[in-house]
Amino acid sequence: MKATATAHPNIALVKYWGKRDERLILPHQSSLSVTLGPLSVTTTVEFLGGDGHDEVTINGKVAAGSERARVVELLGLVRSQTKRRLGRAKMVSKGDFPAAAGLASSAAAFAALAVAARTAAGFARDTQAESILARRGSGSASRSVQGGFVRWNRGTRADGRDSFGEQLFAASHWPELRLLVGMVSREEKEVKSRDGMRTTVETSPYYPAWAKDAEAEVANLIPFIRRRDLEAVGAIAEKNAWRMHSTAFAADPPLCYLKPATLAVIQTCAELRKKGVGVWFTLDAGPNPVLLTSKTDEAKVAKVLQQHGAREVVRCRPGGDAEVG
Ligand code: PMV
Repeated sequence: MKATATAHPNIALVKYWGKRDERLILPHQSSLSVTLGPLSVTTTVEFLGGDGHDEVTINGKVAAGSERARVVELLGLVRSQTKRRLGRAKMVSKGDFPAAAGLASSAAAFAALAVAARTAAGFARDTQAESILARRGSGSASRSVQGGFVRWNRGTRADGRDSFGEQLFAASHWPELRLLVGMVSREEKEVKSRDGMRTTVETSPYYPAWAKDAEAEVANLIPFIRRRDLEAVGAIAEKNAWRMHSTAFAADPPLCYLKPATLAVIQTCAELRKKGVGVWFTLDAGPNPVLLTSKTDEAKVAKVLQQHGAREVVRCRPGGDAEVG
């Protein structure tokens, strides 16, 4: 009753921003991301049979508070899905992210946890069930169970059984694609995604327009990924990031995740394109932009990020599926 799984984080090209069900973590709209290699989180779950509290260790530290509660909740869901007596669990998780990657590790962490916990409980691999379970930890984790390009289908059911990540193209479809995370700020963001999206749904007058547009953009993006058309994919990613942040700016109180250096990098992308460098940005709920480019322009783009004060540049490419062992 012990298993280890490794999963990668992901960056959304069409973002998830807003829940229609807070408890089940069901989104208002579908989203589409690229799973990122080589960064990964590795998690071991062992069910010990007996009674008592679960032991949760993350990056060498015993977890407490809400961090621990989210893991314990997910382990509880696995226990409720089997007749086997699993008992209390010991969970140990470690990420290989550079400390300053600026990428949320929660997507990789909950995907690895979901795969490890189900496998330890005796379930056969089932990416749909794993994605649904990972989703309960963090919405974006539903897109990290599989590699390459993954769509998280919004679904329509109230119980969430049709809301899971589904691979559209494997990582091998587009090996030349590069995603560079520019670490322009190390500060903890003031408003976590979970709270930011709730405020946006409840108070931004633009929210319904955002949800409708994002759903349409997921469908628009797929043929461009199929053709590996970086210019068209980049243009949709930029537009979608601006629209997510615009709906957040319009919340009450307003939410602005950009720092001056973020805007400088974003504006530089447009300048570079005029000079023939193929580079586009996307931005999650934080100040560190992720730049989409090709293998050919990677070195140039990394240099420009550094010139704009990025203390560290994390170079990623499409990554693979979550794996056991
Ligand atoms: O899954 P969460 O709660 O970490 O929210 C993710 C939200 C964004 O990163 C901003 C967008 C996305 O789709 O990943």
